[in-house]
Amino acid sequence: MPMIRAFSKVAKDLFRTKGCGCEPLIVSVRSITFSPRQVTTDASFHSVSFSETDHPKVLITGGLGQLGVGLAKLLRKRFGKNNVILSDIRKPSSDVYHSGPFIYSDILDYKNLREIVVNNRITWLVHYSALLSAVGEANVSLARDVNITGLHNILDISAEHGLRLFVPSTIGAFGPTSPRNPTPDLCIQRPRTIYGVSKVHAELMGEYYHHRYGLDFRCLRYPGIISADSQPGGGTTDYAVQIFHDAVKSGKFVCNLRPDTRLPMMFIDDCLRATLEVLEAPAESLSMRTYNINAMSFTPEELTKEVQKQLPDLQVTYEIDPVRQAIADSWPMNFDDHNARKDWGWKHDYDLPELVQTMFNFIGSESRLAHAN
Ligand SMILES: NC(=O)c1ccc[n+]([C@@H]2O[C@H](COP(=O)([O-])OP(=O)(O)OC[C@H]3O[C@@H](n4cnc5c(N)ncnc54)[C@H](O)[C@@H]3O)[C@@H](O)[C@H]2O)c1
Repeated sequence: MPMIRAFSKVAKDLFRTKGCGCEPLIVSVRSITFSPRQVTTDASFHSVSFSETDHPKVLITGGLGQLGVGLAKLLRKRFGKNNVILSDIRKPSSDVYHSGPFIYSDILDYKNLREIVVNNRITWLVHYSALLSAVGEANVSLARDVNITGLHNILDISAEHGLRLFVPSTIGAFGPTSPRNPTPDLCIQRPRTIYGVSKVHAELMGEYYHHRYGLDFRCLRYPGIISADSQPGGGTTDYAVQIFHDAVKSGKFVCNLRPDTRLPMMFIDDCLRATLEVLEAPAESLSMRTYNINAMSFTPEELTKEVQKQLPDLQVTYEIDPVRQAIADSWPMNFDDHNARKDWGWKHDYDLPELVQTMFNFIGSESRLAHAN
């Protein structure tokens, strides 16, 4: 274990539990004997290390997956191209490489991560690296390393450098004993996948670091995310992206979930906007650190009907993948996100008909482009 040091700047309110009506627990700085590793004596534990007029300097880990490139685009529009750094262990496409700063970063390499944060004066960290549900079940030990050990590195670095840290969680952080229709923010969480277990761990560790060290931890539980221009990374909700591509390409789709499997879903633009909004929300508006967010909820059968309004000849058959089906059967059917709506004004834009229309508009324009070239 690296050397343990006492914090020098633990503020009074670090131990105040918002809304509990208790007096803040004041703990003498010297009495704190446990801290994240390598905390420097002048570390600030408040996230706003840039002035009001400055933009944050953002690092996105695991940025080449389904969500990272889109988020970088949104954040760069808001904060400037050079203020948002994408990182991953994969090689970026030429488009991505030329669209803004990219750095190689393995989240299991603590020293390298630290160097990136210091050298680039990072103030916000969006931690997207993860192995998703189906991929995680196929490689539990790697999922444990990336999703749990990697998170520990991120938490320590964020606490050490006073970063605002966003970590996404998921509908997969719930399990068969959670209420499923709807699933509230606070309820029993006993997931049965390594992905779900690691995400509950992330929620709890982030909240612990917030209360213990004042880390500005923010977390949204995303539903299944549907995107047009990026491929899903091996989750249980991937079918809801694949159906559009197969429908256009071959007019046929083989679905790996039962037709009546109801899951919460969201269009990527809503997901990325929610992420920016919660990152920008004033700390006093957040009564919690981990929020459900939702947009719609549908089954493969309902999605097929909506898709067939555009492509009536689409044929859908079902070949159930028992691993994905078991995962889906243990997940929420509907997500209760009233706390996000109340606290920081969350509101989704896309319901199922708009989602389907937008996906076809995008895929249609892509294939027209491909034919033209
Ligand atoms: N996409 C969804 O439907 C969805 C839903 C809920 C939550 N989430 C969460 O959002 C985040 C992003 O999801 P996504 O769909 O873009 O995931 P993805 O699987 O598409 O991408 C994850 C990225 O992490 C990278 N990665 C893997 N190991 C790494 C390592 N050791 N160091 C650095 N990077 C590494 C991969 O190369 C990949 O590019 C994840 O944390 C995921 O759990 C996604």
